[in-house]
Amino acid sequence: MPDLENLQERLLSDIASAKDKEELDRLRVSAIGRKGQITGLMRTLGPMAPEDRKRTGPILNKLKTVVVAAIGTKERELRHESVAGQVSGESVDVTLAPRPMQEGRIHPVSQVTEEIIAIFADMGFTVATGPDIEDDFHNFTALNIPAEHPARQMHDTFYFAPMNNDERMLLRTHTSPVQIRHMLSTKPPYRIIAPGRTYRCDSDQTHTPMFHQVEGLAIDTAVHMGHLKGCLETFARTFFESSSLRMRFRPSYFPFTEPSAEMDIGCSRGKDSIVIGEGNDWLEILGCGMVNPRVLQHVGLDSEKYQGFAFGLGIDRAAMLKYGIPDLRAFFDSDLRWLRHYGFRPFNMPNLASGLAL
Ligand code: PHE
Repeated sequence: MPDLENLQERLLSDIASAKDKEELDRLRVSAIGRKGQITGLMRTLGPMAPEDRKRTGPILNKLKTVVVAAIGTKERELRHESVAGQVSGESVDVTLAPRPMQEGRIHPVSQVTEEIIAIFADMGFTVATGPDIEDDFHNFTALNIPAEHPARQMHDTFYFAPMNNDERMLLRTHTSPVQIRHMLSTKPPYRIIAPGRTYRCDSDQTHTPMFHQVEGLAIDTAVHMGHLKGCLETFARTFFESSSLRMRFRPSYFPFTEPSAEMDIGCSRGKDSIVIGEGNDWLEILGCGMVNPRVLQHVGLDSEKYQGFAFGLGIDRAAMLKYGIPDLRAFFDSDLRWLRHYGFRPFNMPNLASGLAL
């Protein structure tokens, strides 16, 4: 048996003078690791005569306890030193000017979509969605637009290549297919709005191949045209923030509504500007009507029992009118200068708690 006192002294002094964590780790391994000195001594206990073991065992155990404790103390010391060193080596210059924060902007389409949702949510509508890529049934047939109907030419549609069964998928030309999907998948009554992207082959100052619509649908057993007018008037007055806004409903035609109407709002037109809420001119803002009983039959609803109204509104156009944005194409150019000018600050979303501006 080597001189244990001597060994303990040596180990403790090595541990105390370890410069860093790596050196301490090496010492730990060489003392109590699998092949360490103390571990080796412990192994000699096995083959010892019982009375020798009784004497040496506690001494070795004590040695190990003392060494382990010394390693632990040193470890904490080193950790403390390294944090203290870091803190004293760093300094904060409190006189430095703050770095400017980059703040993004909300795109007018997102802003206006949120505004429209908030207004209809106040009237009890919930948001529904559907796919951009549609089939013929949901986009046309179920909406009472049969194969040879001229309304299909009204929509200059983007079609995909024919599939195996010769059917062609298409980019939805309006948000009306969401009505169909919603009625097919849930039970009446319905009160939904469905904002989303829509597509038509069109491009000029007021048309882009992709644009945004919001669809509205309200179906119950006693919904009538008065509800349609009331809802849309509340919407228009709130959205354009004008309680004296003039409105009129003009007869129109859509295959999926009967009767159908277009809603105009009062405005004045300058040389190249439109002001909503004043003047003697009219501006068309949306299409609407009482849902055609044939549409209800297509989704398996009893059209003797259920009836209601639907409307479709161009979101981009509403944004242009409300916020005086002249060119629709700029909406989708991803020009940051444009977005900084026409975009909205975050956290400035419509506040439902303020209620309707009537
Ligand atoms: N889907 C019509 C369009 O895109 C708008 C509309 C929706 C009209 C619902 C009436 C009812 O032009």
